[in-house]
Amino acid sequence: MISTFRAKIVFLLFVLFILLLANWGTYAGVPMLVLFVVACSVYVPSFFGSYWTPTEAKAVERVIREVKARNGAFYDIGSGDARVVEAVAKAGFTSVGIEIDPLKWLFSTARLKIRGVRNARILRTSFYKADLSGADIIFCYLPNKTLEKLEPRMKKLRGKTIICYRIKFPTMKPAKEFEKEKVYVYKT
Ligand SMILES: C[S@@+](CC[C@H](N)C(=O)[O-])C[C@H]1O[C@@H](n2cnc3c(N)ncnc32)[C@H](O)[C@@H]1O
Repeated sequence: MISTFRAKIVFLLFVLFILLLANWGTYAGVPMLVLFVVACSVYVPSFFGSYWTPTEAKAVERVIREVKARNGAFYDIGSGDARVVEAVAKAGFTSVGIEIDPLKWLFSTARLKIRGVRNARILRTSFYKADLSGADIIFCYLPNKTLEKLEPRMKKLRGKTIICYRIKFPTMKPAKEFEKEKVYVYKT
């Protein structure tokens, strides 16, 4: 059954689509189209794992400290606008983002290219299908239900550091907890 949250998203996108049609051919048509496309990019991925919301700067700093302590390849599963991928790459580590949304994939790939970040890339695929064997550190900022689905797979991964922001896995116990930044570090 469709959740209340998802029903609200469908309603919001439907309203924006109607407004877009109503304004098509007028001066408001282009801004309405941009608004509709951005809203789709932010909210449609919630049907595949999570809508977009970014990690705060102080949490990104904590993540970088943890990556420096572990010293390995970093993967952000559900990488959004690539702010975490970019920050980790700039700290000197190989950094990979996995993003399902084509618009955010395009934006983050362009962002990395324009800023000359060479040791980072974004893969356009679902984290449910992605090969995570090359990762030493896996970062996730994802909702409860998605972490619940990912947990059995994460438990099977050996020798990885998994970092969660804001939301913890349902049963795995973090090795370190940074409550101020809401960063939780797991060892598998
Ligand atoms: C809460 S945001 C986190 C963004 C980024 N990691 C950060 O911390 O700033 C979750 C991201 O996961 C993406 N996403 C949702 N489902 C996905 C899936 N199945 N595979 C890959 N990415 C997905 C969304 O498009 C969104 O950009």
